[in-house]
Amino acid sequence: MNEFSKIINWDNVFAQAETFQNNTPFKYGFIENVFYEDFYEKLYNTYPSLDTFEKGNTYSKSQLIKYWGKNNKSVIPSEGNDNNYSEEWNLLKKYLESDDFLKNMSKFSGILFNKLKFFSLIAHRKGGFQSPHNHNMGDSVAVAMFYFSKGWKEGEAGGTYVSSDMDESTILFEPYNLDNSMIIFQDGPVSWHGCRYVTKDAERRSLQIYLDRVEDGKFVGGGATEDDYGIEKTEKINI
Ligand SMILES: [Fe+2]
Repeated sequence: MNEFSKIINWDNVFAQAETFQNNTPFKYGFIENVFYEDFYEKLYNTYPSLDTFEKGNTYSKSQLIKYWGKNNKSVIPSEGNDNNYSEEWNLLKKYLESDDFLKNMSKFSGILFNKLKFFSLIAHRKGGFQSPHNHNMGDSVAVAMFYFSKGWKEGEAGGTYVSSDMDESTILFEPYNLDNSMIIFQDGPVSWHGCRYVTKDAERRSLQIYLDRVEDGKFVGGGATEDDYGIEKTEKINI
């Protein structure tokens, strides 16, 4: 028992490992009840107000984003705590950076991770969307979204779908349970995903992270694209 032992329900994560690793044309998976309930409720209840988020709109998306730490818009989250977030959110960020989390996610995915690369809250209100896109940072990277939205109904837009092409008609999977769940996929040239136009008057609240591998002081995968996050494109990141 340590400070991290009641955060992620690893039994629920590992139960989806085989599905994740066998899905095609790229690896993706969906995990429900990803957090232990008590911890999830604390995260849910202290998710920051969307009024404190920045607009992250481009021609291809309409979303709200809140970074961690000093707002330098770097791909890599600032080190340490951020007192704009609750105790539980600070503990979660610390855990997602830990060896324990990265080793378990490597075991789940079959991809070797040793560094958290991105940690930002991303939300949609009514009218939010993101066109189908891929990041193509490399197959050392996985992208994951944790959801904190109660009351989403079957068939409603708002979750990040994965698709086999840059066209919503090719959707492979779209999540509808956005209450304590996570979608994760391996990055690459065909890892298409997006979010259909949100038509309900509600808040689609999430946390997005990237996991990657550092070798010789550099991330193996590239950075996010300017189009994706409104940040400067980075090819290789020195840390
Ligand atoms: Fe994306």
